Amino acid sequence: MDFRSDTVTKPTKEMREAMMNAEVGDDVYGEDPTVNRLEKLAAEILGKEDALFVTSGTQGNQVAILTHCQPGDEVILEAESHIFLYEAGAASALAGVQTRPIQGTRGAMDPSEVKKAIRGEDIHHPETGLICLENTHNKAGGKIIPIQTMKEIYEIAREKDVPVHLDGARLFNAAVASGIPVKEFSKYTDTVQICLSKGLSAPVGSILAGSKSFIQKARKWRKRLGGGLRQVGVLAAPGIVALEKMVDRLAEDHANARQFAEGLSAIPGITIDVDGVETNIILCDIRETGLSNEQFLTKLKEAGILAGPFDDGIIRFVTHREVTNEMVQTAIERIAQIIAGK
Ligand SMILES: Cc1ncc(COP(=O)(O)O)c(C=O)c1O
Repeated sequence: MDFRSDTVTKPTKEMREAMMNAEVGDDVYGEDPTVNRLEKLAAEILGKEDALFVTSGTQGNQVAILTHCQPGDEVILEAESHIFLYEAGAASALAGVQTRPIQGTRGAMDPSEVKKAIRGEDIHHPETGLICLENTHNKAGGKIIPIQTMKEIYEIAREKDVPVHLDGARLFNAAVASGIPVKEFSKYTDTVQICLSKGLSAPVGSILAGSKSFIQKARKWRKRLGGGLRQVGVLAAPGIVALEKMVDRLAEDHANARQFAEGLSAIPGITIDVDGVETNIILCDIRETGLSNEQFLTKLKEAGILAGPFDDGIIRFVTHREVTNEMVQTAIERIAQIIAGK
């Protein structure tokens, strides 16, 4: 029972068949019909003029930063965002930008704080090159950034002529859980990155979407990074299945996460903000059990349960297609036994 991440999902049978039967061509020449179909479909779903198939969420975010910014620019982002915490310093290493983290609440930056952080004209200051948002917010436990917050930040950004990029690795989770179409979220951004290889179960790939001229420049950045691939329709084909067939079922993952959180929160020593479980990520505070993260995870592993360490005393469980409701029930029972027996 693997609750470490939704990235562990394997391609479905339909995806494997689509891979086998994919029509392919040289994508660097723009001649792979399957990639072209995926990019067109993704652009339509996200409400953008054009889209680019990239190898990973990290590559999508970094190509966005490289395309939007100049070296020496400053990027405003949330203090616990993936781009700031988990992309190996790529924004500074590759794009030569400096980051300006703003502490959010439940992953959401306060629009007035964003406004204050945008640099004015001054010879001493860097230019504010970009504002990055993340929805759902991973480190905050899969929280949905309210659309109103996104709208307010976007309006401020437009006034100041600063572009907005959305790390929407799990944007479809936000859309399914809130009942608001992805387009409505991406409308308040200039560019958006979505992952096909997390809850949507494709084996590889992300999409970066934006205006035609932006994607044209982004395509060149992807090439510079070595991400111009050839007969890559075999990898785009499962991405099409992901977008067409795998979105609605995310609701099951959310229901399982809620049930898991309710069950775990009834176990003495485990604290969870059950109402804060808005999508497929559960953050669980185990400090009162007296066990360290390592001890807790080892005991779980012995009981056939994999989860991931987060901060000190915080464990992350993620639900996904390969986690059934039965597994959730079993996991709750086994964790209760572990804590009772310690
Ligand atoms: C919010 C968020 N953004 C970006 C990424 C990066 O995606 P990838 O692992 O495909 O590079 C992740 C991966 O977990 C993520 O959770």
